[in-house]
Amino acid sequence: MNDFIFHNPDKVYFGKNQIENLPKEILSIGNKVLLVYGGGSIKKNGLYQKITGLLKDSGIQIFELSGVEPNPRHTTANKGAEICKAEKIDVVLAVGGGSVIDCSKGIAAAAVAKSGDVWELVSKGVWVTEALPVIAVLTNAATGSEMDAWAVISNMETNEKIGLGGSALIPKAAFENPEYSYSLSAYQTACGAFDIFNHVLDNYYLAGDKTFDLVLEFQEAVMRAVVKWTPVALKEPENYEARANLMWASSMALNTVLDGGTVHGCACHMMEHELSAYYDITHGHGLAIVTPRWLAYILNENTAPAIYRLGEKVFGVEKGLDNMEGARLAIDAVWNFCFNTLGLKPNLTDLGIGKENFEKMAQHACFGGEISGPKNLTPKDVEAIYNMCL
Ligand code: NZQ
Ligand code: ZN
Repeated sequence: MNDFIFHNPDKVYFGKNQIENLPKEILSIGNKVLLVYGGGSIKKNGLYQKITGLLKDSGIQIFELSGVEPNPRHTTANKGAEICKAEKIDVVLAVGGGSVIDCSKGIAAAAVAKSGDVWELVSKGVWVTEALPVIAVLTNAATGSEMDAWAVISNMETNEKIGLGGSALIPKAAFENPEYSYSLSAYQTACGAFDIFNHVLDNYYLAGDKTFDLVLEFQEAVMRAVVKWTPVALKEPENYEARANLMWASSMALNTVLDGGTVHGCACHMMEHELSAYYDITHGHGLAIVTPRWLAYILNENTAPAIYRLGEKVFGVEKGLDNMEGARLAIDAVWNFCFNTLGLKPNLTDLGIGKENFEKMAQHACFGGEISGPKNLTPKDVEAIYNMCL
């Protein structure tokens, strides 16, 4: 077990009636807000009207940036930063899923940068310690952006999708009302759920040090919650208990509670970000396609016990089997979850993706080296995994 510091300053308002506290949170910082949202889901489900009404009643001045794309573009973040600079915005208010929150973080960072260009920060790998404060109102249980220090920004001109990190990017507050996710489509519910699952599996569970039992048990509990509650949310989109479990699981997966003492991985995420950078696909779907193939690829005598434990603890695979046999059943269970329970299409070809860019994507995923994890991956390994996904 490694030493660690736990510090997450995000104040989470969780539940049905917490949005009433939003004006107070904003006014504790200032009264000029840039309201950032996506393609209009918040207008259809009434959240836009609710929030703008509350802010106006409290004398908060609202500026708006709408149309944030899924896989948010650096150009959109730069547009928001320009508004912040011109209007001397105090708070960036993100209302949406991970894309809107990430774009808002990009805006917040670029707004205080001399160049006003988020891509300069992303491409230089700057760790952001200064940014405007971000407040997030979450509508999709998925990315963990509502409580983490990361923003994933896409540059479609260069086919790059890269994380921008920094202590200043952790939202000051997050409002999580599971009811706001009732209007999600079954597809986005499934993709979000698998993103949560993979954050735990990929980031720590198989990558990490196996000596901190409490943290391993936490990780398994979060993955089990996703496996248990996603089918309920798919069947009954307005089941509060299901949506609440998924929403809190989303936040727990990346708010650093689960990485105490562990080692970080991220192999599937590195591979998936290339897919969405080249083909603009939905992140969680890309992860679902890659993950069972990655597990099959890394399976060997060394990794089998951990993969088998995943099967046993999360999917109820029978105890007492040979490690390799148990691990194979665990991989079957992950496959079944992705493509039968969640109903996601299993192959890259289903998304219109062929092998034409695999070599370049594999090189870039490895950032000139290897992807570290339970089995380190070279560009050749990554290419082989992409080929398994066709
Ligand atoms: O744009 P609107 O109209 O709001 O519609 C969105 C969008 O079309 C819709 N949606 C969201 N909430 C809804 C809703 N529709 C109806 N009702 C609701 N309540 O869902 C679609 C997808 O939204 P998006 O925000 O793109 O999804 P998600 O939350 O999965 O975010 C994905 C982005 O986050 C990045 C991904 O790479 C991707 O760019 N990630 C961010 C991370 C982070 N900050 O730490 C980590 C993740 O691993 C991930 O990489
Ligand atoms: Zn993710």
